[in-house]
Amino acid sequence: MNTEMGSTTQNGDAEGVLGQEFTSHVIESMGPNTSPRTREVMTAFIQHVHDFAREVQLTMDEWMLGVQMINWAGQMSTDRRNEGQLMCDVIGLESLVDNITYQAAARSGKPVTASAILGPFWRADAPIRPNGSTITFNTPKDGQVALMHGKVTCAETGAPIANAVVDIWQASTNGLYEQQDDKQEEHNLRGKFVTDANGDYSLYCLRPTPYPVPNDGPAGKLLSMLDRHEWRPAHIHLIIQADGFKPVTTQIFDEDSKYLEDDSVFAVKSGLTVKFNERKGDPQATLDLEYNVTLAPKK
Ligand code: BEZ
Ligand code: FE
Repeated sequence: MNTEMGSTTQNGDAEGVLGQEFTSHVIESMGPNTSPRTREVMTAFIQHVHDFAREVQLTMDEWMLGVQMINWAGQMSTDRRNEGQLMCDVIGLESLVDNITYQAAARSGKPVTASAILGPFWRADAPIRPNGSTITFNTPKDGQVALMHGKVTCAETGAPIANAVVDIWQASTNGLYEQQDDKQEEHNLRGKFVTDANGDYSLYCLRPTPYPVPNDGPAGKLLSMLDRHEWRPAHIHLIIQADGFKPVTTQIFDEDSKYLEDDSVFAVKSGLTVKFNERKGDPQATLDLEYNVTLAPKK
């Protein structure tokens, strides 16, 4: 280490004093027991974050504002709300990581159902419901009910996959998921459906409507600092998994929705839009949505 590294020049030339030599010193301070992947990730992280501070000549006030926003996100987060994740979402980081992961999966075999970000409103404890039943228990007056149905198949063989679990969740027309809204019953608009011997699943759900992501925390503050809106296009979330297959986390978007071009969390990709069709002769639903899923076998 250069002994001059920690010293300060009279004019406080930060770039000159704490340049690459300082960054290399911080990176090299990792001990021999650091795992290779942690070393790889943290080397790049420290390098980029130091270069970022030097590039924008980050001030103490700006750095402290960032620290306070991270702390605020932590203080707001509970098992029902993940504000740190939401902050990543509004700068596109969750979508980028999802895409990197999905591309790695796509390179290794035939095309599978496209993925999209999980988002903060999934719940692990959603109930298993019978095929043909509903997830909409407090159907709002402005809600349109759709029969959603489809087949889960193997990407390699095309064979139907029995006993695949299709985990679905969606917001109500007021823009709220049940855990955000005292007026919705527990587990309203969510449930898990198990495919039958033909790989088929079916359920009644709401035609989704656009909604704004929560704006009462640091993610909302960031959006307002960036002069951006909070809206997401109408979507339904899914996780599809089956024994012996790679699971897929995704979202499907109503092709007629607003905000497909400017989703506040950058989750829309080609191949994820779906069409709601008119459904006749069904007293439970005026709309029909077919959505088929293809899973890649685990190698
Ligand atoms: C969602 O669609 O549930 C969501 C995704 C990312 C951030 C906020 C909400
Ligand atoms: Fe959502």
